[in-house]
Formats: sequence, structure tokens, C-alpha cells
Amino acid sequence: MEINWEQLRQVAAKASEKAYAPYSNYPVGAAAITDSGQIISGANVENASYGLTLCAECSLVSELFAKGGGKLVAFCCVDQEGAVIMPCGRCRQLLSEHAATGMMLETISGIKSIEEVIPDAFGPSDLQEN
Ligand code: THU
Repeated sequence: MEINWEQLRQVAAKASEKAYAPYSNYPVGAAAITDSGQIISGANVENASYGLTLCAECSLVSELFAKGGGKLVAFCCVDQEGAVIMPCGRCRQLLSEHAATGMMLETISGIKSIEEVIPDAFGPSDLQEN
């Protein structure tokens, strides 16, 4: 599948305009393509109790389920200027649960697979009884 990364970055940048980031003043937008070809997005939503902040990836995963679920095949997130940023560690874990095998993401050091950015990820199979 050929991914239009420029388009995905633009969708993410547009989503960042909806961020609620009064504490960090660091709006983030995320965008992804699902295995059914839908493009979804999300933005960070902060909280006065700082630790409750929802990253843009959290909003995106909520949107994934709101739109019927599925798996993510391509992902990127950007800052307010539209520059690619690396998903935080917690969000790599979050994304890995909902990523199709080999999901590609744009990082600050190029296009990588989800498996490359969170190797040996803990996941649903770890909870299966033997
Ligand atoms: N942030 C995200 O939304 N995603 C990330 O992967 C990195 C960090 C947000 C959280 C917080 O609202 C702001 O960026 C500054 O840390």
C-alpha cells in the first residue's frame, strides 16, 4: 500500500488546531490510515491535573473505535508547525495494541515499523492463558 505521508501530515496538522493544550502550549495532531482505508485523526487534550493529559494518540484511538474499529496501517503525529514528532513511549504502547502487523509510522529519523519503535512489545497475547 502506497502511503501519502504528505497528506497524512496535513491531516495531523489540521487536527492539532483542535488541541486543548493551555498548560504546555504544545498542540499535537495525530493522523492514521486504517485497514479499511479510513483516515482518522486526534489532538492532545490536557487537564489541570497535569498527569491526566490525553495525548493526541489517545484521541486518535478513540476516533478509531468511534468510526467502527479496525487496525492502523500508517500513522504520524506532528507539532503545531506541522513537523513530525516521535510518539511518546506510552503512546507507542497504545498504538501497538491497535496497529496492523508492520504498521508504518513517520518518525524524526524516517519511516519505521511499529515493531522497530517498540520491540518485543507487551500485548494481548501475553494475557492469554497457556
Ligand atoms: N503529546 C502528545 O500528544 N503525543 C506525544 O506522543 C507526545 C506528547 C502531548 C502531551 C502534552 O499535551 C504535550 O504534548 C506536551 O508534552
